[in-house]
Amino acid sequence: SRPTALVGAMQQELAALLARCETERVVRLAGRDFHVGRLHGHHVVLVLCGIGKVAAATTATLLGAHFRARRLVFTGVAGGLGEGVRVGDVVLADCLLQHDLDASPLFPRHEVPLTGRSRFDADTALNLSLARAVRRVIDRPGHFGPDAAALGVTQPQLHRGLVISGDRFIGDAQASLALQRELPDALAVEMEGAALAQVAHDLSLPFAVLRTISDRADDSAHVDFLRFIDVVAAQVSADVVGRWLAD
Ligand code: ADE
Repeated sequence: SRPTALVGAMQQELAALLARCETERVVRLAGRDFHVGRLHGHHVVLVLCGIGKVAAATTATLLGAHFRARRLVFTGVAGGLGEGVRVGDVVLADCLLQHDLDASPLFPRHEVPLTGRSRFDADTALNLSLARAVRRVIDRPGHFGPDAAALGVTQPQLHRGLVISGDRFIGDAQASLALQRELPDALAVEMEGAALAQVAHDLSLPFAVLRTISDRADDSAHVDFLRFIDVVAAQVSADVVGRWLAD
């Protein structure tokens, strides 16, 4: 059967998933280790993507063309942009856009030239089942423990909507304000999702992008980001994906 591809952005996240996976073989391609095996009875391929849109596009292409993945699920962290999108919250992308794509005046700003579109939709059915898994995980009392509480993460919320991607870490108030003005419905910003979305669209593959908010893309983003990834991100990704596959 064709595998489900699980793509991680962070070493910590992949490690948490790999710890639960029965790996059958590791295929090294394009500088990446693709772990092929079984997770909760599902045929899976797990891979660390790398950072940025090109890394995401390369990884997604290989997953589709070489591994014949039947669907792609990306898990990672993101900076919160939308009002009320706080550190520790989970964002499930309904659609994705490249905020740094601009071929104007030849094409409208953000539009992928010659495709006629700027937003790429995640798979509805995948999102529905992932949202259910997210709620089960975050609604479990005391799930996040004392380390997360020390970071101010208490009761995370699930948000669904637009996620934007670009080859830039957004780490100052001016940059995040500019994005909020330009794309007022954007919930979160990261560096891979929209690239994966474009490739998945080209390959006709269903996909989903699941992000935990590590920072608010503001002046303290780099500090929050580094503190957060060890404490919360790996746990949320592994628990949600595990829950989702187990159901
Ligand atoms: N991933 C996590 N936080 C981010 C930020 N502030 N900008 C871009 N990508 C991110």
